[in-house]
Amino acid sequence: MSFGVGKYEMDELRLVVGAMVILSAATALLVVMPYMLLKDTRPPPGLKPYTPVQLEGRQVYIANGCVYCHSQQPRDIAQAPDALRGWGRASVAGDYVYDTPHLLGTMRTGPDLLNIGARQPSRDWHLGHLYAPRAYTPGSTMPAYPYMFEVRQGQAKPGEVVVNLPPAYAKPGQVVVAKPEALALVEYLIGLDRTYPALKGPEDLAVDRKAARQ
Ligand code: HEC
Repeated sequence: MSFGVGKYEMDELRLVVGAMVILSAATALLVVMPYMLLKDTRPPPGLKPYTPVQLEGRQVYIANGCVYCHSQQPRDIAQAPDALRGWGRASVAGDYVYDTPHLLGTMRTGPDLLNIGARQPSRDWHLGHLYAPRAYTPGSTMPAYPYMFEVRQGQAKPGEVVVNLPPAYAKPGQVVVAKPEALALVEYLIGLDRTYPALKGPEDLAVDRKAARQ
């Protein structure tokens, strides 16, 4: 019987070393490299931080799963005809500096929304569309969000925002009032506008940094 390094002990060592190598390679590739690439990303001059109400609306967007059907990442013309669809130029890292968590999305059951504020700036339209999507886009598969609104007989109270539905959808004597969550969500949607020119590439940023140091 031999007490040297056995066949199976060698296998254990190989397993541990192999696992460490794979783990470090994965960390380098998925954590360190993206960090190095993105650490100098600065807010583009045309992009404003979200207001408190817009941030509230962003939470409503997340809570209601809008991201499951809507992306926020118009692609380059080589990948998809997004610019021709009116969704805007291909997005760049700087467009997302204020987005935590990001809402890039993977599904496009509905249109990309990164520039919806530029394309559709009407609060009335958005409120009505959230209350009754099919009143605005016949055959739309988007769900309605009636619980963000209060339907009442009679008049709205002063200061309340009434949804102006198309005549065929408005019921006589009834008012549809937007709740704060609907108003915040629409503030967020109207604020989505990355139509300013894309920020310069990393080479230009390096030049800028050098210039700033001098
Ligand atoms: C089941 C998928 C689905 C979900 C969930 C969904 N949408 Fe939609 N959305 C669509 C589809 C499909 C359209 C295109 C038809 C239409 O205009 O209604 C659309 C259209 C839109 C539009 C108009 C876009 C344009 O370019 O005209 C906006 C704004 C919008 N959705 C916002 C939202 C918000 C905000 C939420 C979450 C509260 C949401 N959607 C949830 C499917 C969805």
